[in-house]
Amino acid sequence: MSSTSRREFLKLGVGSVSAFVLAAAEGRSGAAAEPIFRTPEMIDRFTDPLPIPEKLKPYGKRKDADLFRVRMVEFRRQLHSQLPPTRLWGYEGQYPGPTFEALRGRRVEVEWENHLPLEHLFPVDTHLHGAMPPAPVVRVVPHVHGSRTDSLSDGLPEKWFVPGASVRYQYPNDQPAATLWYHDHAMSITRLNVYAGLSGFYLLRDPQELSMNLPSGAYEIPLALQDRMLDDGAQLLYAPTEDDGTAVPRGMWGPQFFGNLPLVNGALYPYLAVEPRLYRLRVLNSSNSRFFRLFFNLAQSPTDIPSLVRFHQIGSDGGLLPKPAPLERVLLGPAERADLILDFSGLEGRTVTLSNNAPAPFPGWSLLRPLHEPLPELMQFRVTLPRSSARTFSLPAPIDLPRMKASDAVTTRDFVLSENMDDKGRSLGMQIDGKAYADAVTELPKLGSTEMWRFINTTDDTHPMHLHLVQFQVLERRGFDFGVFVRQQGKLQLVGASRPPAPNEAGWKDTAIVNPNEVLILLVRFEGYTGRYVYHCHMAEHEDNDMMRPFEVVA
Ligand code: C2O
Ligand code: CU
Ligand code: CU
Repeated sequence: MSSTSRREFLKLGVGSVSAFVLAAAEGRSGAAAEPIFRTPEMIDRFTDPLPIPEKLKPYGKRKDADLFRVRMVEFRRQLHSQLPPTRLWGYEGQYPGPTFEALRGRRVEVEWENHLPLEHLFPVDTHLHGAMPPAPVVRVVPHVHGSRTDSLSDGLPEKWFVPGASVRYQYPNDQPAATLWYHDHAMSITRLNVYAGLSGFYLLRDPQELSMNLPSGAYEIPLALQDRMLDDGAQLLYAPTEDDGTAVPRGMWGPQFFGNLPLVNGALYPYLAVEPRLYRLRVLNSSNSRFFRLFFNLAQSPTDIPSLVRFHQIGSDGGLLPKPAPLERVLLGPAERADLILDFSGLEGRTVTLSNNAPAPFPGWSLLRPLHEPLPELMQFRVTLPRSSARTFSLPAPIDLPRMKASDAVTTRDFVLSENMDDKGRSLGMQIDGKAYADAVTELPKLGSTEMWRFINTTDDTHPMHLHLVQFQVLERRGFDFGVFVRQQGKLQLVGASRPPAPNEAGWKDTAIVNPNEVLILLVRFEGYTGRYVYHCHMAEHEDNDMMRPFEVVA
């Protein structure tokens, strides 16, 4: 269908669209039992401008603190100008939520208020621990991801609250400037709450960064990348799948979710008109399960030979890198961020497509072909604006970032990542060390100490492992002998060369990926607070079903 006829067609309205999708779905699968969803071909690309999330305004100020109020509400908004409005959950009625702008050393206090309805947008699987009755289906707890915060303000999964209730959380912002983000974390329904729309940016700035002449104002663009699925009425469809790609019965937990439609800042295939100059892109993967391997492509179509625009990564999850890393592609697992500088000068009149070639599931080594829509195109940058001012920006100068050493670690803790299967090959959930979230705390690091944490991946998936409270450093990644591991009750025999972090991972991280058959080795300093925190895989489906454990920092 040509783009014009598709547009005409969509104008006919929801009823006719549904007839088309129904036909398409039947043609594809020979059965109409599956939910009817929109395919990417049905949506015109690059017709809508990129939305930039609003900055959240404080309602009050104190000497050392800014006071905010954030209401979680249900609302409707169009995800694309050709679609009817979609029912969403959002902070302050926005999707993504409004952006916090925080300054190092100035405390942020937030009154988080739950004004959501009593019914969830999606069916809740009440078999999962923590989601069983009498737990109400609608409950929330916000978490600022990457923030060093007292346990009471961390947003622990079990600290959820119901519609009509609120909490007051404090964020001291006593850490370097970084691209942080916030999202819901309610026990065993995080995947549903985040999917419904509950996430946003939390940009922490500091004097060092502000003195650096980085692109700012209209030249600093946050980009939240997510995948979604829509039904014939343009409503969100949450349809997780088994590892082999088959559908999970409706309303049941599944080990992964991959949407067939890409959203950037809550818009389907948007575009941004830019000037021929440096831009700073704050990229966040806030998808449930999907990885993105991003590149900036000058080619006209995803099937043409790519023509890449090189760029620099200047920051990772927890702040600026020691020095900018020149890159052609950047891989982001769920929850990872990349602070990028892209130079559009010399590209006047050209179109640059933000593109992706990460398979879903990732890395999909055991599969002959990716099982889910690859989402090769996400958005366009069009270099059509004239340079509106003589102001120039620059890449940051190298900064001093002390590298932690293995010998700093007083303890080594090993964590085995595994997947439980039933006899039909269906996933029963993922685990860390074969334990459930509700099992007693086993990790009690001492305040102020440095430890080595090793994540040993025995599954077929790459997992983005995240720790609350801290920013850590990646020491190395190693292979291990799986045969020895199985035969000798978990004996870890490292094989192959040590792989130190790539230059774009050589800074502070709070989430790092571990591939199948690999050990991810981190150095972690437990600073700031004693108390209970959590660590988990950030694939939301995994963390909701026991790939999450508590730890407690002790004095
Ligand atoms: Cu993004 Cu437990 O967090
Ligand atoms: Cu977090
Ligand atoms: Cu995982």
